[in-house]
Amino acid sequence: MCGIIGYIGKGEAAEVLINGLFRLEYRGYDSAGIALIADGDIFVRKVAGKVKELAQMTSGQLPHSHIGIAHTRWATHGVPNDINAHPHIDCRGRFAIVHNGIIENCRTLKRFLEEKGHKFISDTDSEVIPHLIEEFYNGDLIAAVKKALNQIEGTYGLAIISLANPDRIIAARMGSPLVIGKGREEYIVASDLAAIISYTDQVIYLKDGEIAEIRKDSIRIESRELGLVTPEIEKVTWTLKQIERGGYDHFMLKEIYEQPIILRDTIRGRLNYEEGTARLNGIADYIDDLRDADRIIIFACGTSWHAGLIGEYMIESLAGIPVEVEYASEFRYRKPVLSQGSICIAVSQSGETADTLAALREAKRQGVPVLGICNVVGSTIARETDAGVYIHAGPEIGVASTKAFMAQVMAFALLSLLLGRQKRLSLDEGREIIEAIRKVPDQLSQLLKVLPDGIKAIARKFKDHRNFLYLGRGYNFPVALEGALKLKEISYIHAEGYPAAEMKHGPIALIDKEMPVVVIAIKDAIYDKVISNIEEIRAREGIVIAIGSEGDEQLKKNVDYAIMVPQTLDHLYPLLTILPLQLLAYYIAVFKGLDVDKPRNLAKSVTVE
Ligand code: G6P
Repeated sequence: MCGIIGYIGKGEAAEVLINGLFRLEYRGYDSAGIALIADGDIFVRKVAGKVKELAQMTSGQLPHSHIGIAHTRWATHGVPNDINAHPHIDCRGRFAIVHNGIIENCRTLKRFLEEKGHKFISDTDSEVIPHLIEEFYNGDLIAAVKKALNQIEGTYGLAIISLANPDRIIAARMGSPLVIGKGREEYIVASDLAAIISYTDQVIYLKDGEIAEIRKDSIRIESRELGLVTPEIEKVTWTLKQIERGGYDHFMLKEIYEQPIILRDTIRGRLNYEEGTARLNGIADYIDDLRDADRIIIFACGTSWHAGLIGEYMIESLAGIPVEVEYASEFRYRKPVLSQGSICIAVSQSGETADTLAALREAKRQGVPVLGICNVVGSTIARETDAGVYIHAGPEIGVASTKAFMAQVMAFALLSLLLGRQKRLSLDEGREIIEAIRKVPDQLSQLLKVLPDGIKAIARKFKDHRNFLYLGRGYNFPVALEGALKLKEISYIHAEGYPAAEMKHGPIALIDKEMPVVVIAIKDAIYDKVISNIEEIRAREGIVIAIGSEGDEQLKKNVDYAIMVPQTLDHLYPLLTILPLQLLAYYIAVFKGLDVDKPRNLAKSVTVE
């Protein structure tokens, strides 16, 4: 949520910053801006709209500079316009800042500063920061920044430049991620790795409460609690190729097509056929706690929450351990009571979602261990959890999550197998699951060859419909929720996911001949019940688009459109049934001419509450 970047070094700052903004754009894209120190001045350009607009507006016009900061915004305070875009400066244009986060006490601070004569020009909360620095500046930049930060309640990832010290960038973090890349005679500070990895694979993850003073060939980090700290340099494994579109029209499509490979990465080295179980080394020390837990509590947001729901169904049915799934945003505020026998799992692709992080901290405050299922290595959630499972999905750039969901569900399949084998699954049952898991990547590859044409035809036909209903039962109920979410996110069509049997308790009133209903009707334990639901829709002239199991000829005759997936074990079906729903949402959005990778109002990583 908001991408920030700063550069200092031997290179051309403008070029690094604009390139970086393009890489960070998935964090927010309603306005963008850049500030460079050149010719004894801070040169600022900003504009409402996407990074492309900024790049076009400034093309060939940015001064040569070796230090600067830039920002791509997702608005919290103040509408997206040129003035509210970052960077923000103080009254005399001596300090410029880019900020990701929220200043909760900005009104009080603004009043305080206005009384001191400061003039504000934007409606943003962030603008108080340069004015606070100006107010406290007394010849020592770091001291002024520290004083300013002491006044702030809320969250920030900040990069600051000043005319008085044109040889350094100050970066500070509290609650919003910041990574610093160390190159040769250059440093880049950014909200995430995507802006850094084309320059260096050596990074330092800034921690909450830390302030970094970055010069082109040195870095000094001070922690609020610990004083001076030695920067820990880590090596990044993500590659440039992974963050490029690579010939696909959109990142979302690329990521959908990557799913078979991703799943192979998620399961690599984690299946033990001999013992019919899974191996998850990252949480090896907590397996006994999980197995003996009174309750496993999973919390997450958005798509990750849907993966968590599937995890609940898997763990309860394979291992018989009670599981609850909570929206992280609800969990943190509703005074949850955790028994000492509980154990929590935070699920997050980015590892930075503010609500999930807050839920994690609440659980830890109550003395309960928290494990993580995360994608981004080194992310805050990955670091603050007691132990965890990385899903190895690689960088996910498309705002609508696809491959991370797939990998999260697979991580739960592995965890439930492991726990199931400790509780009640026989060796043969374990091996049967392993065989089925191993088949999934190939099954997906095959589906990716045969599905798109049929799905495109359906997408063309229904792209202008205003509403969709998605129904599923058991393991496929969360898939229905996820399918509906995908459609909403990128095509702006209203869509609701429901447990199929609940349709009778309300949504059935919506069904008429204009209502497409996507029903997941695979041959699992509750197939017959879902077929009855399909009959109920047809009796009311609803249009049924069914996702069925290969070989189910009867289903094909009973529905308007049938999309078939290969057979697998009941609990692994979500890994197959989600694919057509991702493709359907994708092609509907494409045929509507929408910006699939940057849907309106959304951001990839939600670092505000
Ligand atoms: C945002 C994204 C979703 C994502 C959710 C949770 O809403 O647009 O795609 O599912 O945040 O993010 P996380 O990174 O914690 O999985």
